[in-house]
Amino acid sequence: MKSILATLVLALIPLTAQASMDPRTPPPRDAHSYANPQSIRVTHVDLDLVVSFEKKTLEGTAMLDVERTVPGTGPLILDSRALRIARIEASVNGRAWVDVKHTLGGNDEILGAPLSIDVPAKVKKVRITYSTSPEASGLQWLEPSMTAGKKSPFLFSQSQAIHARSWIPVQDSPSVRMTYTARLRTPKDLFAVMSAENDANLKGQRDGDYTFRMRQPIPAYLIAIAVGDIAFKPMSKRTGIFAEPSVVESAASEFSDTERMMVVAEKLYGPYRWGRYDILVLPPSFPFGGMENPRVTFATPTVIAGDKSLVSLIAHELAHSWSGNLVTNATWSDLWLNEGFTVYVERRIVEEVYGRDFEQMEAVLGIQILQGDLDRLEDRDESLRLELAGRDPEDSFSQVAYEKGGMFLRHLEEAFGRDRFDRFLRGYFDHFAFRSITTNDFLAYLKANLLDKDPAAAAKVPVEEWVFKAGVPAGAPKPQSDAFVKVEAQARPWLDGKAPVTSIDTKAWTTQEWQHFLKFMPEGLGTARMAELDAAFGLTNRGNSEVAFEWLLLSIRNGYAPADARLEQYLVTIGRRKLIRPLYEELMKTEAGKKRASEIYAKARPGYHPQVVATIDSVLGTGQNR
Ligand code: BES
Ligand code: ZN
Repeated sequence: MKSILATLVLALIPLTAQASMDPRTPPPRDAHSYANPQSIRVTHVDLDLVVSFEKKTLEGTAMLDVERTVPGTGPLILDSRALRIARIEASVNGRAWVDVKHTLGGNDEILGAPLSIDVPAKVKKVRITYSTSPEASGLQWLEPSMTAGKKSPFLFSQSQAIHARSWIPVQDSPSVRMTYTARLRTPKDLFAVMSAENDANLKGQRDGDYTFRMRQPIPAYLIAIAVGDIAFKPMSKRTGIFAEPSVVESAASEFSDTERMMVVAEKLYGPYRWGRYDILVLPPSFPFGGMENPRVTFATPTVIAGDKSLVSLIAHELAHSWSGNLVTNATWSDLWLNEGFTVYVERRIVEEVYGRDFEQMEAVLGIQILQGDLDRLEDRDESLRLELAGRDPEDSFSQVAYEKGGMFLRHLEEAFGRDRFDRFLRGYFDHFAFRSITTNDFLAYLKANLLDKDPAAAAKVPVEEWVFKAGVPAGAPKPQSDAFVKVEAQARPWLDGKAPVTSIDTKAWTTQEWQHFLKFMPEGLGTARMAELDAAFGLTNRGNSEVAFEWLLLSIRNGYAPADARLEQYLVTIGRRKLIRPLYEELMKTEAGKKRASEIYAKARPGYHPQVVATIDSVLGTGQNR
């Protein structure tokens, strides 16, 4: 990264506006899609699918509206992964259909297979009859035993980054936006949710036949589906909870500040443009903390702590309604435009709703994990804009896009002042609303609308260094938390052997203070001290998923056997990648740990999501996947 050549190339990157502002301007080349929106693009998807839990398939048709961006007769190229294509037809008017030829290319480990369809020049609609594979990477089919209710099966999708193609034949690039409609046939006693309108849904009527409509153009990675024993409970006029019946109450009280968060976000960044904002709480195998599916955030149940201490996750997913869903990264190299902006907006919401002290704790925790990532990453993965050609985008995703991205915006805020920066950001969301943009589009807009207006302020922020170079520039904001300073002051006398464990006054500690305390423990704490902590504070039996995570990590490091059973239970019941991967990695550091890891994994693996299975397989060195 630091060669003279690289510096030269960086200096030559033009900051001129190439913004894909007109939806008709050809989108940038996306290294993670075979699609050819530069010549013909999909503008609408109409799904008609049967959800079969017996076969673990979605089966039916995807009818695509297509539009030639340049006149011609070239093929329509879609993305696909492990789809079974039965038939493809084309139509000029949506009434008369003719069979057309297609070729399914060879399967690429990362990208899947290009589906190339011969479409005559005037064709406006293409209908694909297909079914998904039971192993579709974007779907998880849960046995009833893996749900809260234990009676009904459950299905959910996770399409970001490049998994929509495993359940819909589509142009699976974030640079391509489309509206969608869907009809789903499910078992009669189950309920279906999608990232789209269906107001009948709110009445919770079940008949096994559900229709949906997304009127705003969105990229394919935001198309989402879930089917199961799902109930609904409203929280405010426009927010509510979808969850299994036994979870719906606790989720509704945990997330009862959602409406307040929306009001804060709207005041800062303009109206919420998606109508409703509901939250679907999934079974614990959901591989992420949350996913910002439009109109309905998908969330892990591991953030239901009972005290709202982990609800910044909702602030985060809600923030994506502006940064990500309204203004979208055009390629996965630009992920920081989604995640970095979202971390910044999340923290602004959190500050407003829960106060500055709380926000500062979260910012410090964020910086700590960023530092951990910077310690292990190669230089090329430390820039905000990533070079991803030939790579699986998910392999290079890290806290860089999130926390370094958020910090960059914070730096701009500090240099230009909050008022001016708020106005800038609001203008940015309006200007690029419902568009997919690249890093250079943002930089051009930034230059014209902020930097050039105040060169003195601009001189304080090394923009190119933030965006294109490794590490964090000198002069970056340094979040500080007084609460954490106090935690350390409490811990030290005990660690130095000068005070008993009972002298640590933890009564008023929040989840974040516990997290910091446990992260603050020195290497080689030893089993005796672990036992002291456990006896005083009952840490092995903590239900809070984040506190338990830190405690279990320490337990593995220190060989603290009394937490063994809890570790196994944790890894077998939770499938959220962020919470389990580091525990497996820690186990793999010793011979005894390796044995335990594979024993536990044998029990846990059938319950993990396919994308998590791929990750943990590679941590353990099993399986052929990543
Ligand atoms: N959009 C992401 C999840 C994601 C990113 C999925 C990239 C696939 C590829 C989501 O908004 C997210 O960032 N979730 C975080 C939680 C958040 C509070 C940082 C997660 O799941 O941990
Ligand atoms: Zn996010």
